[in-house]
Amino acid sequence: MQIKLATKKDIKSIVDITKNDGSNRPLNPKNIENYLLKGDMYFLVCNPLPIGIAKLAFNKDEAELFVISVKKKFQNSGIGKALLEYVEKESIKLNKRKLYAHVTTDNRKAIRFYYKNGFKKICYVDNLYKKGDKYIKLVKLL
Ligand SMILES: CC(C)(COP(=O)(O)OP(=O)(O)OC[C@H]1O[C@@H](n2cnc3c(N)ncnc32)[C@H](O)[C@@H]1OP(=O)(O)O)[C@@H](O)C(=O)NCCC(=O)NCCS
Repeated sequence: MQIKLATKKDIKSIVDITKNDGSNRPLNPKNIENYLLKGDMYFLVCNPLPIGIAKLAFNKDEAELFVISVKKKFQNSGIGKALLEYVEKESIKLNKRKLYAHVTTDNRKAIRFYYKNGFKKICYVDNLYKKGDKYIKLVKLL
């Protein structure tokens, strides 16, 4: 298994992973391209084909994990954890000491994943992206 920084060439793979992670929330290729131009980082897990993705964005001394996604048939074998550990190391290298994440209150698997991996709940956030959304805001001190 290899983890690397994704480039524009990987956009198709990123979309494909998020289409096949069971969450029914595929990322939009145009948005990915714009975020890459803005300096957000996408990390791709290959085994040897692409099977997982994480997206990190930065703000002062903080990092936010906007997306973590592993193809359904590769889930529950530690790929998500390995990807998270990698992203944490990269954040520390960039002097970021806080890693934030938001997860919808109905995404039980992801909530368990974050808690198991050391994230703590800060608060609930309503209407984050659209009216009626309910998210939990989490943080992990790095
Ligand atoms: C959240 C997500 C990224 C986790 O990825 P994952 O690769 O399944 O994560 P891990 O394998 O590291 O951990 C998940 C579970 O597998 C277990 N596990 C870890 N290594 C394992 C191994 N070697 N063998 C068996 N089980 C293992 C963990 O204990 C954990 O168990 P739990 O369900 O009791 O908590 C994945 O479920 C996903 O893509 N979900 C859809 C997208 C999403 O909702 N993302 C979050 C919001 S952006």
